Amino acid sequence: MLQDDRINCLENYLTELYVLFNQTQHYHWNVVGSSFKDMHEFFEQQYQQLYEMIDEIAERIRAMGSFVDVSVLTLAKNSSLCQSKLTYPVDYTEMLKSILLGHIELSKLAKDIVQPCDACGDYATKHIMSEKTIFHEKSIWMINSLLTKL
Ligand SMILES: [Fe+2]
Repeated sequence: MLQDDRINCLENYLTELYVLFNQTQHYHWNVVGSSFKDMHEFFEQQYQQLYEMIDEIAERIRAMGSFVDVSVLTLAKNSSLCQSKLTYPVDYTEMLKSILLGHIELSKLAKDIVQPCDACGDYATKHIMSEKTIFHEKSIWMINSLLTKL
């Protein structure tokens, strides 16, 4: 039962992580305007980190004995982030707001895993998800800073 809770949490997290990766890579490609270079590079750094996280989470799910399914059909069916889609061209701040929401959601999902991990002493998964929480919270700070107008 407890293991199912952890797997369910990891699967939900991986689903939204994959969608945020996909959205961020699209913003890397489709950003336009005077901030192009900075934003193009920022989105690239972001999607590369998200890509590495996808592999780590998927392999953790396998190590815990479950199979992984983040096929396009599964993502479209199960992801809440998947429901928001920008129409291009768009101001880069809309792209930043979009991934800000994604990091906020993923930060919450990462924290959901802590309790079931504590309940069964799974400190390895808890450690992995603590690292992910740090990344999302750092990203939230950076994106909010980029959105701040002085
Ligand atoms: Fe590129």
